[in-house]
Amino acid sequence: MNSIQSYLKEHKDRFLNELIELLKIPSISADSAYEKDVIKTAEVIKVSLEDAGCETVEICKTEGYPIIYGEKIIDDSLPTVLVYGHYDVQPPDPLELWNSAPFEPVIEKTDIHPEGAIFARGACDDKGQLYMHVKAVEFMTATNQLPCNVKFMIEGEEEVGSKSLSTFVKNNSDKLKNDVILISDTGMIAKDAPSITTGLRGLSYVEVEVTGPNRDLHSGLYGGAVANPINILSKMIASLHDENNRITIPGFYEKVEEPSKEDRAEMAKAPFNLEDYKDALDIDEVYGETGYTTNERNSIRPTLDVNGIWGGYIGEGAKTVIASKAYAKISMRLVPNQDWEEITKLFTTHFKNIAPKAVKVKVTPHHGGQGYVTPIDNIGYQAASRAYQTTFGKIPIPQRSGGSIPIVALFEQELKSKTILMGFGLDSDAIHSPNEHFGIWNYLKGIETIPYFYKYFTELFK
Ligand code: BES
Ligand code: MN
Ligand code: MN
Repeated sequence: MNSIQSYLKEHKDRFLNELIELLKIPSISADSAYEKDVIKTAEVIKVSLEDAGCETVEICKTEGYPIIYGEKIIDDSLPTVLVYGHYDVQPPDPLELWNSAPFEPVIEKTDIHPEGAIFARGACDDKGQLYMHVKAVEFMTATNQLPCNVKFMIEGEEEVGSKSLSTFVKNNSDKLKNDVILISDTGMIAKDAPSITTGLRGLSYVEVEVTGPNRDLHSGLYGGAVANPINILSKMIASLHDENNRITIPGFYEKVEEPSKEDRAEMAKAPFNLEDYKDALDIDEVYGETGYTTNERNSIRPTLDVNGIWGGYIGEGAKTVIASKAYAKISMRLVPNQDWEEITKLFTTHFKNIAPKAVKVKVTPHHGGQGYVTPIDNIGYQAASRAYQTTFGKIPIPQRSGGSIPIVALFEQELKSKTILMGFGLDSDAIHSPNEHFGIWNYLKGIETIPYFYKYFTELFK
């Protein structure tokens, strides 16, 4: 047993208990009713960084939720790793679909996690994954094995668009100066198939409002004679995809890079079983853009999805009514080179164009961000790859993810450094869903792997 393994063995229970305490605080950034809890979580993170051996730790106030900054600088001539994570979580609803309370963590065994998994909102996204970094640094400082400088920047608004963090990064580029950014806020293919995320999709999120008559109307007296905004909105939304499931917004694909044959062949090598995929979701068939595989559809292709749609009467029984308004929330996942603000404009123009004169349309952009791809020929990627090889005994597979962490593109733009995405979660961990969980094995494996990244990165940096 090596040094990190014996440290883990000795402190495993404490590492689990500390994470469980962190998960008990409902740090839901989207809901202002939880403001106190979000702020309390920032304080807990601050103390945990101090306990882990960081020397300067501060809670940086912002217009929104605080950012925790911590650092341990051992020598200016050594490289600096900047760790990013987020302590805010998604709202837990629908609550009735949870098998246990979202903020009362429990450990249960599952087929994939026979060692047990911690069930709680934020267990994987991102409290569990960010805490692996805190514990990895604790190990390195406690055993005098931290080979380079480390900085932490942990925010509380990731799930709502990282607005304060953008300003913070722009205003503090000196303080945040680093040689590589390290993030665990993504996943890996499987426990026996480690992977490194090499790309994230961008995002444009909009809300639309379609207004017909100025008030709700009797659907018998007026039905058939005026535009029903719900009917119209449905029609408009349906027209946003063609028969091949391609998005019909003019110019939408203009900047999308077509993958080369070689790239596609490389992607197809990643382990993936379509039957297992369908079984896990209980669907008879997958659905998506003609001409692309499931893995391509959910990573290197842009998409448009309605996330919510409402209007009219949804109470018990029947009410014969034509609503005055109908609404939808729509997200577009974008691929590198598609600019999110440009896509938002294309959407807005198109959506207004396709509306019949009988309705008024309002489009409100929410938030967005650019996609990201990282090359694999840099020392950051190589250090990560070697770290996985050491602890998993396998070469990790580079894989582009379909999710978004919009701030990553801004990091590169402002701080001029590459981000390495070492995620230890699994797709089955149900992030953003009821019964979110994080495998204890994954948590400990992350803590074991991270110190090797520091070691190899420092060695390669010389
Ligand atoms: N950690 C996720 C993103 C993620 C998960 C990327 C798994 C790759 C694999 C992050 O917290 C998240 O949920 N991002 C949002 C975007 C944000 C602007 C709300 C997303 O992807 O929907
Ligand atoms: Mn996250
Ligand atoms: Mn998330």
